[in-house]
Amino acid sequence: MPVLGLGTWMLTSHTRDLVANALRLGYRMIDTSGDYHTQSGIGIALTELAPPRDEIFITSKVETDQDAYQSTCRNLEELGLDYLDLVLIHEAPDKGVGEDLWRGLIRARDEGKARDIGVCSYKIAQLQELVDLTGEVPAVHQVEWSPFGHSLDMLSFCAAHEIQLQAYSPLTRGKRLEDERLLRIAAKYEKTPAQLILRWNLQHGVVPIPKAGRADHQQENLEIFDFDIEAIDMATLDGLNEQFSALEKLEYL
Ligand SMILES: NC(=O)c1ccc[n+]([C@@H]2O[C@H](COP(=O)([O-])OP(=O)(O)OC[C@H]3O[C@@H](n4cnc5c(N)ncnc54)[C@H](OP(=O)(O)O)[C@@H]3O)[C@@H](O)[C@H]2O)c1
Repeated sequence: MPVLGLGTWMLTSHTRDLVANALRLGYRMIDTSGDYHTQSGIGIALTELAPPRDEIFITSKVETDQDAYQSTCRNLEELGLDYLDLVLIHEAPDKGVGEDLWRGLIRARDEGKARDIGVCSYKIAQLQELVDLTGEVPAVHQVEWSPFGHSLDMLSFCAAHEIQLQAYSPLTRGKRLEDERLLRIAAKYEKTPAQLILRWNLQHGVVPIPKAGRADHQQENLEIFDFDIEAIDMATLDGLNEQFSALEKLEYL
């Protein structure tokens, strides 16, 4: 999996052009979902640019009220792909842990429609129960994750079970980018707050998927591979955690 992806929630106007621009800039992972209304635009951009399929990583998601297998097939059709690199259960169900959904995704994977499968926003106990019930460990757990809202317990649990964490809404949807402490550390590295947050993710082994419609934002978010955040600043960034959520609450806590 690439270590950085492009989120596409709300990238509903000019999706094709914006995704094509990202691909030209060098993005190799695109995150979408059946309910984002971006899949057909992504599919057209992929057809037009025709990057080698094995160099591109496409993630989609299924909803808890859907048949996960059928939904995966529909997502493939909308994207115009033969397989998805990753399919995720979009959220933890209200009741239970989504065993039927998970078995639907296991079937999709076993039939080659998905290379890997995972979940989003599960609590640690739910992840454990899903594994205990099915013997299948999610390859990826996608959760809301930023210096202002994250869980080092979740990070440890996922590391121990070899579950790759992906950070959604890593830029707090822009709500905390002006934080004084963030600005101060970013200035030290001559980077922007967004770049600092994305780099903080990388150094924790977490894969961020920032959404950026603006071309300059897309470019800026790629420029995170030429500096290292020192341990003391990593600790300060970790210490900004106040369980902040840009979406109302950190569902996995
Ligand atoms: N699994 C789930 O339940 C779930 C939930 C939420 C999101 N997601 C996924 O995660 C992706 C990212 O999360 P998100 O879209 O909620 O929020 P986000 O990535 O935290 O923030 C997106 C916002 O940040 C702005 N931005 C991007 N780069 C910037 C930069 N360098 N400087 C300043 N602002 C910048 C964007 O502006 P412009 O667009 O104008 O450039 C946009 O307004 C989603 O798109 C989606 O693919 C998954």
